[in-house]
Amino acid sequence: DASDIEKGTYPHYMLKEMDEQPTVIRKIIQAYEQGEDVTIDADILNAIAEADRLYIIAAGTSYHAGLIGKQYFEKIAKIPVEVHISSEFGYNMPLLSEKPLFIFISQSGETADSRQVLVKIKELGYKALTVTNVPGSTLSREADYTLLLHAGPEIAVASTKAYVAQVAVLAVAAYAVAKQKGITLDFDLKQELAIVANGIQAMVDSKDVMEQIAEDFLKIARNAFFIGRNMDFCVSLEGALKLKEISYIQAEGFAGGELKHGTIALIEEGTPVFALATQKDVALNIRGNVKEVVARGANACIIAMEGMEEEGDRLVIPRVHELLTPLVSVVPLQLISYYAALHRRCDVDKPRNLAKSVTVE
Ligand code: AGP
Repeated sequence: DASDIEKGTYPHYMLKEMDEQPTVIRKIIQAYEQGEDVTIDADILNAIAEADRLYIIAAGTSYHAGLIGKQYFEKIAKIPVEVHISSEFGYNMPLLSEKPLFIFISQSGETADSRQVLVKIKELGYKALTVTNVPGSTLSREADYTLLLHAGPEIAVASTKAYVAQVAVLAVAAYAVAKQKGITLDFDLKQELAIVANGIQAMVDSKDVMEQIAEDFLKIARNAFFIGRNMDFCVSLEGALKLKEISYIQAEGFAGGELKHGTIALIEEGTPVFALATQKDVALNIRGNVKEVVARGANACIIAMEGMEEEGDRLVIPRVHELLTPLVSVVPLQLISYYAALHRRCDVDKPRNLAKSVTVE
């Protein structure tokens, strides 16, 4: 049938979509390039630059992309940001700033939890920008502005290429706003994204390594932990969600420093702990956390960025700009989840109890 054609020779959409990630980054560069730079539409630029605070609203993987987006807007463009889970925002609305701009992140553009927030803030007279993969989707039509992900259709329930597209487009937006505001930047985003595309390529070309990691760490696991600090923490949340939804292994993403406040009690002989070490400032601290869990019997898989690796690390991801590491470090986590799910004969593309777009609140 038609879906077989689209999948080509791939056994699963998820695998195909993970493989497309380098191309997605290159498409985003093309879609947003203007001469030597990447930028966004002038009216969207102005809407963001004029806001005194951004409110990012999203669910699931898109929420995790929003957590990275917050760091981009704050660190690159110097605009304060709050990130909210859409289903919570409706009845637990924070005190808003004087000139807020709402940013909805949604692959499908149809998520009901996010839409109810959009309807509400429009009633209050506020402006909204939707970052989506689907032109003409509900969230796109009902918002004032849209930024497209250019990721191509995402069919697998587990979101992969849309996440990297969301993070990349948020980086482009933050970078463009920073330039507009006259902030001096010490990197060239267009160039750095091209390096990211190559880094992701190297990761998707190492599938045998990820399959072996899944086999060594997750074959008989009942649960798994993902730890990281700073941006690596945000990626840990996404790694845990990916593993849960397709392999049904109970997984949690944690800020490395938070383990000792309770969760470390769960570590037993052989508990898999995936630790990301891509953030220079906190590399020593995360390695300290790994020692703590290993001392309690954990089976630790350290994924470090090139230049920061140490003996015994299980995987080294290619070096990219420190702010862009989530785009590369998430890829091995996606692939490890995929192989863990395959080992358990799970329905990778259509996990139980889940829908691709969640149109109920
Ligand atoms: C991700 O793998 C999920 N299946 C899910 O969390 C998803 O990201 C969430 O439902 C939000 O969807 P959206 O991006 O289409 O709004």
